[in-house]
Amino acid sequence: MVSKNTYILGIESSCDDTSAAVIRNGKVLSNIVASQEIHAKYGGVVPELASRAHQQNIVPVVQQAIEQAGINKDDLNAISFTKGPGLMGSLLVGTSFAKSLAMGLNIPLIDVNHMQAHILAHFIEEENTRFPPFPFVCLTISGGHTQIVKVSNYFEFEILGETIDDAVGEAFDKSAKILGLSYPGGPLVDRYAQQGNPKAFSFTKPKVGDLDFSFSGLKTGILYFIQKKLEENPRFIQENIYDICASIQYTIVEILMDKLKNTVQKTGIKHIAIAGGVSANSEIRKRLQLAQNQWGWTTYIPKFEYTTDNAAMIAIAGYLKYLNKNYADISVKATARLKVTE
Ligand code: KG4
Ligand code: ZN
Repeated sequence: MVSKNTYILGIESSCDDTSAAVIRNGKVLSNIVASQEIHAKYGGVVPELASRAHQQNIVPVVQQAIEQAGINKDDLNAISFTKGPGLMGSLLVGTSFAKSLAMGLNIPLIDVNHMQAHILAHFIEEENTRFPPFPFVCLTISGGHTQIVKVSNYFEFEILGETIDDAVGEAFDKSAKILGLSYPGGPLVDRYAQQGNPKAFSFTKPKVGDLDFSFSGLKTGILYFIQKKLEENPRFIQENIYDICASIQYTIVEILMDKLKNTVQKTGIKHIAIAGGVSANSEIRKRLQLAQNQWGWTTYIPKFEYTTDNAAMIAIAGYLKYLNKNYADISVKATARLKVTE
């Protein structure tokens, strides 16, 4: 029997990374990410600059993804792209490009929800990966979102809890900013934390109902703490950076783990996945690994390159939709605000 391969090109441009990936069936052949360094000096993503950079990057990034996959663009079976949520100007670049290419090649166009794609990255086929069985719970933690989602099948999602203010990625990035670290600060806090004592300083955990989160109080608490310490010792940050980062990270991860414990108790579901940029964090990865023996959970931790924004996750979501012939109409619109359930 001749097996038929399916090749999907994924395009991601929702925020400040321009990315393109090619997958064959469920396997990644290429996953190119061009990160935009320009935003670091502004301390956050500048939307206007992001869309301009996407415009510059999109053609070479797509070309490189196709080349590295060792295929020709005529081999592609469909083009999937991020429809939302994200920055409108950024989304428009990927959306318009995907539409033109799909029309030019006369192949199906598939729209993908970025938040669903973060979760569906768990279904990328890799050596030794176990796919989470349905239903499972996914803690989606990124720069824009903090959600606990029940996943009943590839396209059935239910939000069990979410942040009522800042996202956890913002908690990392804003804390880092208070410490004078460059944007995005999450990875730096993680790196410095590895050399620090997580119990050196204690920060109050927010009191918020059930499965919801709140991080704005924590951020203010950290700001006041640092201001007070700096009055006593202007070199407080330099002298204690490792311990401060370790303590902040410990508090944030404790908050996330507490909510996951509540979720398991409430739903009885012990298959727990994480997704989104903050799932690159070494402490949350370690704690979830430990939870397997500690509490009998089965945990699913994505490969590092599928945690932060990337097009492989858009391509796998596209592939799963392709199998259902769930195609988009050419009139499909980029949508800045889109829930994981939409
Ligand atoms: O998913 P993502 O790449 O973009 C959004 O869709 O938001 O997530 C970016 C967020 C940023 O806030 C960044 O600081 C955070 O993920 N992040 C981390 C780590 N790596 C990325 N936060 C903590 N520890 C990390 N290692
Ligand atoms: Zn994301």
